[in-house]
Amino acid sequence: MYAVRYELIKECKQSGARLGRLHTPHGIIETPIFMPVGTQATVKSMTPEELKEIGSQIILSNTYHLYMRPGHELIKKAGGLHEFMQWDKPILTDSGGFQVFSLGPLRKITEEGVEFRSHLDGSRHTITPEKAVEIQTALGSDIMMAFDECAPYPADRDYVKKSLERTTRWLQRCKDAHKNTENQALFGIVQGGMYKDLREQSAREITAIDLPGYAIGGLSVGEPKDIMYDILGHTVQFLPEDKPRYLMGVGSPDDLLEGVIRGVDMFDCVLPTRIARNGTAMTSQGKVVVRNATYAEDFSPLDPECDCYTCRNYTKAYIRHLIKANEILGARLLTIHNLRFLLKLMENVRIAIHEDRLLDFKEEFFKKYYKK
Ligand code: GUN
Ligand code: ZN
Repeated sequence: MYAVRYELIKECKQSGARLGRLHTPHGIIETPIFMPVGTQATVKSMTPEELKEIGSQIILSNTYHLYMRPGHELIKKAGGLHEFMQWDKPILTDSGGFQVFSLGPLRKITEEGVEFRSHLDGSRHTITPEKAVEIQTALGSDIMMAFDECAPYPADRDYVKKSLERTTRWLQRCKDAHKNTENQALFGIVQGGMYKDLREQSAREITAIDLPGYAIGGLSVGEPKDIMYDILGHTVQFLPEDKPRYLMGVGSPDDLLEGVIRGVDMFDCVLPTRIARNGTAMTSQGKVVVRNATYAEDFSPLDPECDCYTCRNYTKAYIRHLIKANEILGARLLTIHNLRFLLKLMENVRIAIHEDRLLDFKEEFFKKYYKK
């Protein structure tokens, strides 16, 4: 038995989007779902209670960061990541591959794994597929991700082919190293860059290894949106229908809707929390750069349609003041709002799938979102 099981409830007759449930050791997740990112064992500035209040069902954390600091052994001693951070719902951990690759000149890839220097103190480390599984086992996440290579964009075909084939071998090594299958699920990651035949090859190789879920990696790495949607649509057809599909690192409202319509069930992105901290809100009327002078005397909420704590209590003028004055409450209030906005969007997406009208929903949503 797998630790995680996907249950397909229905497909939207209008769009083909999937409504489902993901059963995990820490509870059931309704899909499609957006996962807030908590890189360092915290969704920046948010307590677990606040995350629950806005409807978070699962959060994501990062192997690389927690391995570097405070260390997976320490978190294991604390009783695992759930206990350490006091979050009792599901956690997905990314494998560290992606974060290590973004270290640029500080790293070297071999068949064995990736050698790199710490971004904190310059010390030398190697993460291998076995090490990534060991770290994620110590963290105790419900879903651990395979150690993969996300090829850069652009990259030439020969390189992408070699890289995806190595990613398949790394997945087999992850699976062989993964023993705690009753309590933790391992997801494989499809790569293949922007080459359709290589995406097919990767999807076939990755899904030939039996696992409880599969992700699509290597997208939203700088390619134009139309290429991303084209590659995504092409890749999804090679994934099994009875397993969850996770599109990694993607989370603008457009990408969420386009992804769901192509059959994706899970998403994560730092976008809502990152732009919150520099003073931008995502609202039903589009982006609001609350920093702007336009809002200096705007005593209305960020989003008149939002039910979050921030919108029920505070004005744009006040939040603008906090952001301008560099007060931490400003970042907190915007983070609460932006996450609620995306989680609410996904709630509405699930209702629209249930009612077979996701394409109508998308049109109405974007009419307002891009009005200006
Ligand atoms: N996050 C965003 N894209 C990727 C990817 O391709 N691989 C991994 N491991 N994480 C990601
Ligand atoms: Zn709000």
